[in-house]
Amino acid sequence: MKTAITELFDIEHPIIQGGMHYVGFAELAGAVSNAGGLGIITGLTQRTPELLAKEIARCHDLTDKPFGVNLTFLPSFSAPPYPEYIAAIREGGIKIVETAGRSPEQYMPALKAAGIKVIHKCTSVRHSLKAEQIGCDAVSVDGFECGGHPGEDDMPNMILLPRAAEELKIPFVASGGMADARSLVAALAMGAAGMNMGTRFIATKEAPVHDNVKKALVAASELDTRLVMRAIRNTERVLKNAGVDRLLEIEREKGARLKIEDIHDGVAGVYPKVMIDGDMDAGAWSCGMVVGLIHDVPTVKELIDRIMADAERLIRKRLVGFLGAESKASLEVA
Ligand SMILES: Cc1cc2nc3c(=O)[nH]c(=O)nc-3n(C[C@H](O)[C@H](O)[C@H](O)COP(=O)(O)O)c2cc1C
Repeated sequence: MKTAITELFDIEHPIIQGGMHYVGFAELAGAVSNAGGLGIITGLTQRTPELLAKEIARCHDLTDKPFGVNLTFLPSFSAPPYPEYIAAIREGGIKIVETAGRSPEQYMPALKAAGIKVIHKCTSVRHSLKAEQIGCDAVSVDGFECGGHPGEDDMPNMILLPRAAEELKIPFVASGGMADARSLVAALAMGAAGMNMGTRFIATKEAPVHDNVKKALVAASELDTRLVMRAIRNTERVLKNAGVDRLLEIEREKGARLKIEDIHDGVAGVYPKVMIDGDMDAGAWSCGMVVGLIHDVPTVKELIDRIMADAERLIRKRLVGFLGAESKASLEVA
């Protein structure tokens, strides 16, 4: 399939694996890129720029195909040294960066000077337009369904994607709630040039996370995510578990007086406990509503091949099948 996104990033299929804390290591990014999508290493999971440089080198050993690095600008307990991370990205020969959280405006000159294409992830049309204005090459439009930080507008993709298509000149991918060929074809119909998946890629053989995480994703339904940190305007969609129940109890008690310190134990340092140790009740970790559509743990290649084959069938059989005889005949001629 050829779209503005496959052209922009020089990839075979319009499928991106979004940066994921403690999931987006070289193994997953390499597997996604080898399967024809765009794999992304999560920059800040690497505690220092030197460790990121090593992770990038490891991924170069795993694939000859393009892959990217995610740089997330979110409120954190201590600010990371972003210029040094960007230096590691540049020196590692990376040509694609996925930014997220706050606007990457401050870092655009450094990224552009290194010939890096920037895809910014945002949850609203106004932030997408701002990304376009500051020189981003593409955006990843993240609907309210998404795992991670859906922003504060609560806009689902059925509205957000066509609105983005109405306003944007640069290409965009649909992110949030994407799992299969139905997601891809629907996203393309709404004006996107591809899709970005997070949660779905965790339930793959190559995702280097504890088996308990993959089992929890297959077992969960679309009703099992919760929103945390609303009161401090850092909303995150996470998988419900005992740690999240405790956190929500504190949030209910504190109401609008909630401070990040009140929930520190439920949100800080959780990822290694979940992703490495498999402690599924450790606290808040991102997960999308799309978890209700995850029923198996295929290899990344099986997943991507299945999506692309099903998408072609969906378009050729189901969608073309709805057309009248005259329209079909004109398609055959074309
Ligand atoms: C476990 C997990 C960790 C994530 N960590 C990050 C992150 O560090 N930075 C980021 O920009 N997005 C992060 N995301 C968001 C994903 O990149 C992606 O935008 C999102 O998962 C898309 O929604 P979906 O889960 O419905 O596919 C994370 C998502 C998950 C599920």
